[in-house]
Amino acid sequence: MIRDTFVNGSDARVRIELPTPAYPASKKLEELIRQRIKFAAAELEPRIELHSTVRGKDAGGRIGLNVHNIIAVGSGKGGVGKSTVSAALACGLHSMGCRVGLMDADVYGPSIPHMMNAKGQPAASEMKDEQGNRVMRMEPIDVGGVKLMSMGFFIEQGQSVVWRGPMLHKALTQFLKDTQWGELDYLIIDLPPGTGDAPMSLAQLVPSTGVVIVTTPHSVAANIAGKAAQLFQALQRPLLGVVENMATFVCPGCGSESRIFSGTSGRSLAEGLGIAFLGSVPLDPSVSDASDRGLPSLVAEPGRPQAAAFREIAGRIAAQASILAEGHRSSPDVAGVL
Ligand SMILES: Nc1ncnc2c1ncn2[C@@H]1O[C@H](COP(=O)(O)OP(=O)(O)O)[C@@H](O)[C@H]1O
Ligand SMILES: [Mg+2]
Repeated sequence: MIRDTFVNGSDARVRIELPTPAYPASKKLEELIRQRIKFAAAELEPRIELHSTVRGKDAGGRIGLNVHNIIAVGSGKGGVGKSTVSAALACGLHSMGCRVGLMDADVYGPSIPHMMNAKGQPAASEMKDEQGNRVMRMEPIDVGGVKLMSMGFFIEQGQSVVWRGPMLHKALTQFLKDTQWGELDYLIIDLPPGTGDAPMSLAQLVPSTGVVIVTTPHSVAANIAGKAAQLFQALQRPLLGVVENMATFVCPGCGSESRIFSGTSGRSLAEGLGIAFLGSVPLDPSVSDASDRGLPSLVAEPGRPQAAAFREIAGRIAAQASILAEGHRSSPDVAGVL
C-alpha cells in the first residue's frame, strides 16, 4: 500500500494507497506507521497521506459492465435479513465514499424498492454499444447516490409473477447487462433465497467477486445456509464470509444483552466452512421500523449499535473483496487481522 516516501529535514511524508475507501483499519495503519517512523528516527515529524483506489478483478468486464467488484448476498432461508444486509452494505459502502449499485435479484419477493423508498420506473433509452450495435439500456433509479435496479419496478404492487427456469435466467441476465450502471466500485446483488435454480444460475452467470452468506442463529437457518454455501463453493464462487443477523437483543429497559436463539451461531457456521466470520447484527426493532418506512436503518438510526455493526461488516466485506482481488484466497481471519 506504500506508494511514496519522502524525507526532507525533519519532514517525513508517506503516501499510502488503500485498496478501498471502506478499509476498516485505516486509523490503526496510520498510527502503526507513525510509531514505526518515530521509533526509527525520533526527530522526524511524519505526515501520512491516505488515498484509496478500489481495485478489483473488473468483475463486470466479461459481461460488458464497468464494475470492479460484484458482491452477491445469499442465504439459504428467506426472512433472515438478506435484503436488509444488502441495503445496509450498499448504503454503508456509499457513505464511505465508494460508487455503489444495488441489484435486487430476488424475483420472488423484490423488497429493495420498498426498503429504499425508490419509486418510478427506470427510463429506457436506445444507444450504441461498443460494437456500434443499437441496444436498449435502462437507467437505474438513484436513491441518495446508490443506483438501484429491481424487478419490483416493473411489477404492480401486490401482483405476483410466476418465473420459470429459462425465463427467469434470461430476465436476470438481461437485467444485469442492460442496466446503465456506469463505473462502479461495488455492485451488490440481493440474490433470491434458497439453493434452487435462480440463485445458483445467477451465481454461475455473474462473474462475482464473492458471495456473502447471511444467517440467523437458528439451526434450521444455519443448516440450509451451510448447504447454500457449499453449493456456491462447488460452483467455484469464492465466499467472502458469514454475517449473523438477529443474534442478540438489547433490552430497551435495563440495557442487558441476551442471545435470543440458541442454534448454530454464525461464527461456528463460518468456522465449519473455513471462511471468515464478518460480524453479528443485533435484533433491533428500529431496523424493521426504518425499512418499513423506506429508509435503511443505517441511514435512519446511524447512532444505534445495529448501524455500527453494519458499518463494521461493510468494511470487512470490502477488505475481503480486495484480498480476493489481489489474487489471494479470502482470509478466514480477516476480523482478527484487522
Ligand atoms: N437485525 C434486525 N432487527 C430487526 N428486524 C430485522 C433485522 N434484520 C431484518 N429485520 C426485519 O426482518 C424482516 C425480514 O428481513 P429481510 O431483509 O426482508 O429478509 P430476507 O431478504 O432474507 O427475506 C424485515 O421486516 C426486516 O426489516
Ligand atoms: Mg429479501
